[in-house]
Amino acid sequence: MKLLIFGSTGGTGRELLKQALEQGYRVTAYARNPAKIEDIKHASLQVIRGDVLDPAFVESAVAGQEAVLSTIGAGAGRTSLRADGTRNIVDAMEKIGVRRLVCQSSLGVGDSHANLPFFTKYVIVPVFLRHAFADHERQEAVVRQSSLDWTIVRPPHLTNGPRTGAYRHGFSTTDTQIKGKISRADVADFMLKQLGDGTYVHQTPGVSY
Ligand SMILES: NC(=O)c1ccc[n+]([C@@H]2O[C@H](COP(=O)([O-])OP(=O)(O)OC[C@H]3O[C@@H](n4cnc5c(N)ncnc54)[C@H](OP(=O)(O)O)[C@@H]3O)[C@@H](O)[C@H]2O)c1
Repeated sequence: MKLLIFGSTGGTGRELLKQALEQGYRVTAYARNPAKIEDIKHASLQVIRGDVLDPAFVESAVAGQEAVLSTIGAGAGRTSLRADGTRNIVDAMEKIGVRRLVCQSSLGVGDSHANLPFFTKYVIVPVFLRHAFADHERQEAVVRQSSLDWTIVRPPHLTNGPRTGAYRHGFSTTDTQIKGKISRADVADFMLKQLGDGTYVHQTPGVSY
């Protein structure tokens, strides 16, 4: 299967890229700065330089792909990068006819707000993460309103720990047993598993230890 990855130079994106290559996918990594992944060499890897805010370039990258994964991000400041970039990805996929999209968002967005612990919900998110969360809300709306076979993946706090494969997913919005963190490697593991599993098509599963 031919995959296109947006956000490939980021924390989760690098993990996604490495795991996809290990699993035998043919991968196109879309990167603003390809030098950040020049240490990853593989016969099945093509790296193209581009900005996700450039619709024409996004469209040319989507052509010929079978699935798209996105881990784009822009820190905690005021931004519309996630929403605007995702709009370009969705528009290109709908125009060209590539249907499967797996998109990373965040636990706490939409109905998963209920999953957040008290301090995160009432202090961290409103004070420090309000812009990022507003952008994720708009990003999720773009994906939900699309005609694609989409899955929105919602992790809580990301760590740089190893891939364990031992995490929970698809828990209810009232679940209080989740640990509120997960490694980027395990988020990547879950995102890749969605390519061979339709369980969460048109759904927004949380993933967490
Ligand atoms: N940090 C957390 O605890 C946490 C928790 C839940 C959800 N999230 C969300 O998860 C997502 C991924 O997180 P992460 O920590 O893996 O992200 P990250 O390390 O910040 O990586 C973001 C990626 O997006 C790319 N990007 C940004 N602007 C771009 C543009 N204009 N054109 C092309 N690529 C662009 C970056 O490219 P460059 O390398 O060129 O900058 C990078 O590859 C984010 O949306 C974040 O909000 C984070």
